[in-house]
Amino acid sequence: MYDVTLIPGDGIGPEVAAAARQVIDASGVKINWHIEEAGAAQIEKFGTPLPDRVIESIKSTGVALKGPVTTPIGCGFRSVNVALRKELDLYANLRPAKNYPNIPSRYQNVDLVIVRENTEDLYAGIEHMVGKDAAESIKLFTREGCNRIIRYAFDYAVANDRHKVTAVHKANIMKCTDGMFVEEARKVAKEYPTIELEEMIVDAMCMNLVIAPEKYDVLVLPNLYGDIVSDLCAGLVGGLGVAPGANIGKQAAVFEAIHGSAPDIAGKDMANPTAIILSGVMMLRHLGEKDAAQAIEDSLVKVAASGKFLTFDLGGSTGTKAFTDALVAEMNR
Ligand code: NAI
Repeated sequence: MYDVTLIPGDGIGPEVAAAARQVIDASGVKINWHIEEAGAAQIEKFGTPLPDRVIESIKSTGVALKGPVTTPIGCGFRSVNVALRKELDLYANLRPAKNYPNIPSRYQNVDLVIVRENTEDLYAGIEHMVGKDAAESIKLFTREGCNRIIRYAFDYAVANDRHKVTAVHKANIMKCTDGMFVEEARKVAKEYPTIELEEMIVDAMCMNLVIAPEKYDVLVLPNLYGDIVSDLCAGLVGGLGVAPGANIGKQAAVFEAIHGSAPDIAGKDMANPTAIILSGVMMLRHLGEKDAAQAIEDSLVKVAASGKFLTFDLGGSTGTKAFTDALVAEMNR
């Protein structure tokens, strides 16, 4: 029995989170779900969209599955997602990009994973005006920050039967920051003789990804390049509805789809739950439940390949609940 925090979120969050829960429960893995609410509706009661009890729950369970949360605009609250990453030091952002049947895409045979550093780089937000007409932003890299994300990428490659890690950088120009990233990649790679290290400059990486994405396996990137390249990779395989993700730290891991709360279709049984279900698959692998994870993924491929259960975003008319029931029926077959 595993304890897992479930944050339904808002918008389409509760609908897709319920779908993921139904599928994971049907896999036979026993989960004691701790339901915690986060989002704008909590502000009136707790004065914040992210009550302390949510953080405390994730600290105690170590694992969370999260639906999307609407970011309140203009009322001074920071994004729940950013706050979670900071509070729990979730330093690795994991974004797989993989082709599935019947998901429209320009490419075939893509199966890569982005490992993005989540806490440093220009995203540390250290910037200021220099006088009136200039602005400066500091690109902060630490040796420890580089080392732990690269080590995470190599450990992930070993644990998931992958063979190559591509370290993406611009060390030809930024010799101190990106240079340190490459230095640490070379150092860490020596400890993993079965995994190949490839080094690639970020601009060449983007070109190669749109020419032949099937050549890549695990990509490890500093925060800014990781943000940009991971969206590029989601686009390679069909976009938002099917893109899972995870934010992982030493003490806790939060699994969630990359899409937002989609207020335009909330409450209409129109959301595609695939992305959060695939995030749940990543969560099961993280918990060591590899067979259950594989069984869900295989069933998802069969349901997609049948072409009978396409959700609205993919041009079909199957609702969230009917799609989920079809998936569970396939798992029980
Ligand atoms: P969005 O991802 O919610 O929606 C963009 C478009 O994609 C919409 O047309 C929506 O209907 C569609 N879409 C998204 N997920 C879908 C799904 N599972 N099935 C079918 N169609 C889907 O992006 P948007 O509109 O920019 O953001 C809405 C809110 O969500 C904002 O408040 C934003 O801050 C928040 N957000 C939260 C995230 C999180 O909690 N992880 C991530 C991204 C945005």
